[in-house]
Amino acid sequence: MTAIIMDGKQVAVLVKDEVRREADRLQELGVGTCLATVLVGDDPASRSYLKMKHKACGEVGIISKNYELPASASQNEVLDLIDTLNRDNNVHGILVQLPLPGNIDSFQIIEGLLPAKDVDGLNPINLGRISYRKHSIFPCTPKGIMALLNHYEINVAGKHLVILNRSNLVGKPLYQLLTTVDPMQVLPLNTDMLMLNQDATVTMCHSKTPLVDKYTREADILITAVGKRPEFVVTADMVKEGAVVIDVGVSRMGSKLYGDVDFESVRDRAGYLTPVPGGVGPMTIAMLLHNTVITAAEQTKNTTVHLVKRWV
Ligand code: GUN
Repeated sequence: MTAIIMDGKQVAVLVKDEVRREADRLQELGVGTCLATVLVGDDPASRSYLKMKHKACGEVGIISKNYELPASASQNEVLDLIDTLNRDNNVHGILVQLPLPGNIDSFQIIEGLLPAKDVDGLNPINLGRISYRKHSIFPCTPKGIMALLNHYEINVAGKHLVILNRSNLVGKPLYQLLTTVDPMQVLPLNTDMLMLNQDATVTMCHSKTPLVDKYTREADILITAVGKRPEFVVTADMVKEGAVVIDVGVSRMGSKLYGDVDFESVRDRAGYLTPVPGGVGPMTIAMLLHNTVITAAEQTKNTTVHLVKRWV
């Protein structure tokens, strides 16, 4: 079997087209959708991720501003900046690039974000709402994964999904989304939501799970977000024949980026496979833009969000 390669770059273009239309519509209402990013310290990887995010904003007509504080900044200095951005009516979305320096209490910073502007969906209010299926903002990476599954018409209902990650950024929101049923929610037939949202059986593994291969081999859909190559690699013998394999891991070795998956060998065993780069990464950025227009529309009087696809 040769896997179908899930082209995140291509699907991200479709997402961005829709975001651009919504940003243009808001502009016609006099609203310039604006994302503020916060970088504390000078981590080169964080800086390079932020550069990509700002470039992507420019491509879809979202204004973006970057605010930087030195690594020596105090907790209160970061909180003061968040407070200023929370109060600024011209800023619709705020993203604090993670990880923050060790002396900063990340939870308190994320909790300080106005939930309505929290485009990462990491504030406890936004994460908690997912448990009730009442969220408006859903974290960018898992949202991008859901959109990829949707685009390739992969139905999760009844499938065994194995997630190698337990973080708030990836594993936990996915777990919540895929296992929570809202009996009050009436889903129209033939929408994207219908096939994706519910009824998966999910196993969450993490760095202390013994014999992780035992679980990965059982997965109809394997989502791996470890990022510790060469110590951890998903090899072909760890994958069920025909499985969907979503690679979220990013490890830099020398000047090259690698995912968790040994691409060449797993390609001959999986049914679907995302590449690194060009798989989940571009989808994460596209979903940041998507979340930003959602927050902007929701902060604008007398309108609602105009997006055909919400995915989650
Ligand atoms: N660091 C790595 N991924 C992310 C992300 O999705 N959001 C933020 N804020 N920081 C990150």
